[in-house]
Amino acid sequence: KMKVIPLDTEGKIQMPVIGLGTWRAKPEEVQNAVLAALENGYKHIDTAFNYNNEDAIGEALQRFYASGKGKREDLFITTKLPHVGNRPSEAEKFLKMSMEKLQVSYLDLYLIHMPFSFFYNGSDYTPLQNEDGSFQLDTNNDIVGTWKVLEEQVKKGTIKAIGLSNFNAEQIQRIYDAAEIKPSVLQIEVHAYCQQRELTELCKKLNITVTAYSPLGSPGANNHFSSKYNYSLDNFPDILGHPVVKEISENHGKSTGQVLLRHHLQHGITVIPKSSNSERIKQNIDVFDFELSEEEMEKLDSLDKGEEGRIFDFKFFKGAENHPEYPFKNRL
Ligand code: A2P
Repeated sequence: KMKVIPLDTEGKIQMPVIGLGTWRAKPEEVQNAVLAALENGYKHIDTAFNYNNEDAIGEALQRFYASGKGKREDLFITTKLPHVGNRPSEAEKFLKMSMEKLQVSYLDLYLIHMPFSFFYNGSDYTPLQNEDGSFQLDTNNDIVGTWKVLEEQVKKGTIKAIGLSNFNAEQIQRIYDAAEIKPSVLQIEVHAYCQQRELTELCKKLNITVTAYSPLGSPGANNHFSSKYNYSLDNFPDILGHPVVKEISENHGKSTGQVLLRHHLQHGITVIPKSSNSERIKQNIDVFDFELSEEEMEKLDSLDKGEEGRIFDFKFFKGAENHPEYPFKNRL
């Protein structure tokens, strides 16, 4: 049975600790993935306006309800305010567009996807780019103002919980201090090579649940970058193939993916592994029948490369690092 974590003090909002990630899942592929996940015990689906697959996920949800196997109230649906919509005047519009595509009357969790903001093309909502390919930065975006707009939506019941993604410690604290409704979740890149000790400590202190994106190290992301943004990383990591992870996987008769997910769960970090393969979809929630020892946890802890291990620095959005809210200043 899927474990849950409460996001509020009364325990009315329960987030399943594993969700299905859907970044890079194309519309036709994501429908089958979502259905396979829901039919095999997932309750939690993570998407974003930016993933261009909310329509297809909405269709999959309709098919799932129609099958009689579950209702909307049984599910936990997360989506995100895109970089192009990150300003107080437009947050509500983008929220409503996502809800319409997903065919939901409320969202369980809505996140500000990234702290920075770009201007967009009014016909298809893609970011505007300059002649040199750099993205057109909206440097006036007011993240606290945007947060206030999301708070209003919580009060209206449109969203159950709100949170942040890809924000740094200073930005999280700034939102937290100004917030009437505090952030419930921080979704960030977390995997064995980038374990985010500083942010997980801060979140523990502020009672914010951390969700790990790319918990398996996102194999395949480099292909996506190179085809979509003409950008690629040297030495793209193969965390699933690391000898320490393999050794621990053999100790338990579980896959290396299951070991990596379990490592984060045992640290109290929720995970959203992406898969479009029904065997791997099943495998990724089958992690509640074994436990990593203290020694195994320490071995996995020691794979952390800190900031050096980060894969997603958003440099594939050419010029993003020049935005005043670019979150990873220490890499400049
Ligand atoms: P696929 O969709 O073919 O299963 P992340 O969540 O870290 O971004 O990783 C997602 C990538 O990892 C996808 O390319 C996915 O491919 C692959 N993947 C998902 N689950 C597993 C697993 N248990 N073992 C190996 N690869 C996996």
